[in-house]
Amino acid sequence: MKILMVCLGNICRSPLAEGIMQHLIKQEGLNWGVDSAGTGDWHVGRSPDHRSVKAAHDQGIDISKQVCRLFRISDFDEFDLILVMDKSNLSNILAMARNDADRKKVKMLLGDRSVPDPYYDDAQFAPVFKLIEAGCKEIIKQYA
Ligand code: 4NP
Repeated sequence: MKILMVCLGNICRSPLAEGIMQHLIKQEGLNWGVDSAGTGDWHVGRSPDHRSVKAAHDQGIDISKQVCRLFRISDFDEFDLILVMDKSNLSNILAMARNDADRKKVKMLLGDRSVPDPYYDDAQFAPVFKLIEAGCKEIIKQYA
């Protein structure tokens, strides 16, 4: 199973989702792959936001080596599951889908709930970590 985590900037939420899922995959001994990408290009080539790096580090997860990249159409071919953080990401990605097979791969990490964008609120990073962690555990339950 190959999973792509997607948010807007690929510097706050999806890097956390990649790091957390990677951590859980290892813990569970699953042979899954995980990556992350954004739909906006402002931060391409950069490291994750330092507040996400810290929120992960506080929980024993290192996401500092990740590099921001854009979502690309070929991700629909490469990944089995494309997990978006919010409804806006969902419509951005669905707008790029080429067919039903692409559309079927796209789901919100938390089902019908969004992971809020913490970019403008430092206090949101720790709760966002917890939300994403719960979402990842649920995905493992569903697909493992
Ligand atoms: P993310 O958060 O989508 O969770 O990475 C954001 C990061 C940057 C911006 C917006 C959201 N931005 O506008 O630069």
